[in-house]
Parts: sequence; structure tokens; C-alpha cells
Amino acid sequence: MTSSPANLYLDLLKKTLTFTLWPEPPAPAEDPGARLSFLERAALGHVSGALARAEIGLFSTRRPVEEDRREGKTWPACAHTMIGLRRLDNLQFCVETALLEGVQGDLIETGVWRGGACIFMKGVLAAHGAADRKVFVADSFRGLPEPDQKYPADRDSNFHTFPALAVPLEEVKENFRKYGLLDDNVVFLPGWFKDTLADPAINRLAVMRLDGDMYGSTLEALTALYPKLSPGGFCIIDDYALPGCRKAVDDFRARHAVTEEVRAIDWAGAFWRKAKT
Ligand SMILES: C[S@@+](CC[C@H](N)C(=O)[O-])C[C@H]1O[C@@H](n2cnc3c(N)ncnc32)[C@H](O)[C@@H]1O
Repeated sequence: MTSSPANLYLDLLKKTLTFTLWPEPPAPAEDPGARLSFLERAALGHVSGALARAEIGLFSTRRPVEEDRREGKTWPACAHTMIGLRRLDNLQFCVETALLEGVQGDLIETGVWRGGACIFMKGVLAAHGAADRKVFVADSFRGLPEPDQKYPADRDSNFHTFPALAVPLEEVKENFRKYGLLDDNVVFLPGWFKDTLADPAINRLAVMRLDGDMYGSTLEALTALYPKLSPGGFCIIDDYALPGCRKAVDDFRARHAVTEEVRAIDWAGAFWRKAKT
């Protein structure tokens, strides 16, 4: 990485958004049980694949919280994103590649929590003078939905019971404001994905980042948005280590004959690039 002003800014932005410049309370402020529950879900065999199996060992050794925060393994008390530094690096790579190669379209995250990953996307655009592209910020702003019986893979999900995952719209807007990154090209889509993602304002996308944790939330986002992803655009899946999310991705890809290689980002995330032709 060069030490250009843009890179220095983006590096600082990542460290600030993840709160990794400072020590953080050892457990989330609002709901200590939430973090344990999330990790335990993974360790209890809900997570498939060799990568995830390796993580079970890591969880059980109770590594320092600082490292967990860098790797996006906690629901942090103070940070504005929970996705960790490597997934932010991946997001920077995807947005910068799209800009460099002229991949047409806007950016979206579905499932934003405190807004940190969207703030970072906006920061990357600002750093490269690409403020004409929109950043869509899609969330219920009241947490995850109750399982819908039409999605059996979500049957046992209890994500909707965690208040720590419900962040109000005003708080997310205020977070954008704090970084000086709130303008008319940040477009909020409040509501359930099944109702909001068909918005005709979403026309063409260069980067779509899905972070809705559940089968239904992932499938609904893929169904509504993937047809709008430009050739050469990036589809990022934050929760590929979670079995419900992974199944939604695998089902969608099989149904729509999507064959581009899925590449791992870290212990949780994965992404692929839509073919250019
Ligand atoms: C794990 S958090 C997202 C973390 C975030 N990307 C970050 O950078 O820290 C999941 C978010 O998805 C939202 N969500 C999940 N399913 C949803 C749905 N079907 N409709 C609307 N919002 C949903 C929740 O409200 C929550 O804010």
C-alpha cells in the first residue's frame, strides 16, 4: 500500500470505524449474551465447511477480544461496523477496482447495523472523487425479521430476539454525519428487504454487499439485486460462514447458473465477481 493521502485517509477510516485504535470493553455494552450466542451458534455445528470447522477451535481457545475485533468476530460496543479489517480491505478492493475499471453503477449494502461498512464505501468514493455514485443503505433499522415459514432454513433463527442488532435510522444517519459523509447520494431504504429492494431508484450496481445473516434476507437481496449488478461488478457475502446464508447463496447460484468462483475473504466473508461478458 502506498502512503498517498487517499490511502492514509482510508486506512485511518478503517481503523476508526472498527474502533481498533482504542481498547474496547471486553464484551458488548448492550447485551453480553449476544456475542456469546453468536459465536456459540457457529461452534455448535451450524457452520459448515473446513474453514468454519477451523474456527471452532479458535473460538474455544478464547483469543483476546482485541484480535476478535480486528477479525470481525464480535458484536462490538463502540465500533461503527462489526465486519473487521479484512472485510473492509476487501470492500475497498472491490470499490476501487470498480472505479478503476469503469464498472457502471452504484453501491449497496443490505444489512447495515450502525452503518460502518456503508460509511466506508462512501469514504472510498469520496477519496477518489467519485461522489456522483450513490450508496444505498438498506435495513429495517429495527433488527432482523422473525423466521418466515417459507424459508425452512431460518426455522431455528433467533437473531430477531437481539436488541443489539436493532439500530435506528437516525443513529445511522448521525454516524454518516460524524464522518462528514452524509449527502444526497447516500440513500436510505428503511424497511424489510422484501419490500424495499425493488425500489426503482436502484438501477445499476457496481458493488452489492449482503449482510443480512439469514437465509431469507440473503435470498431476497440476491433475487432483487443480482440482475442489476453490472458485468464486472462485485457480489460480497458477509455471512458465508453461516449455514442459512450460505445455503441461500448456493441455492441462488444453482438456480440462476451463476458459476463465477466464490472466493473466501476471511473466516466469514466471501465474494465473487460477475463475468464481464
Ligand atoms: C450483522 S448486522 C450488519 C452488520 C453491518 N454490515 C456492519 O457493517 O457492521 C445485520 C443487519 O441486517 C439487518 N437485516 C437483516 N435482515 C433484514 C431484512 N430482511 N430486512 C431488513 N433488514 C434486515 C438487521 O437490521 C441488521 O442491522
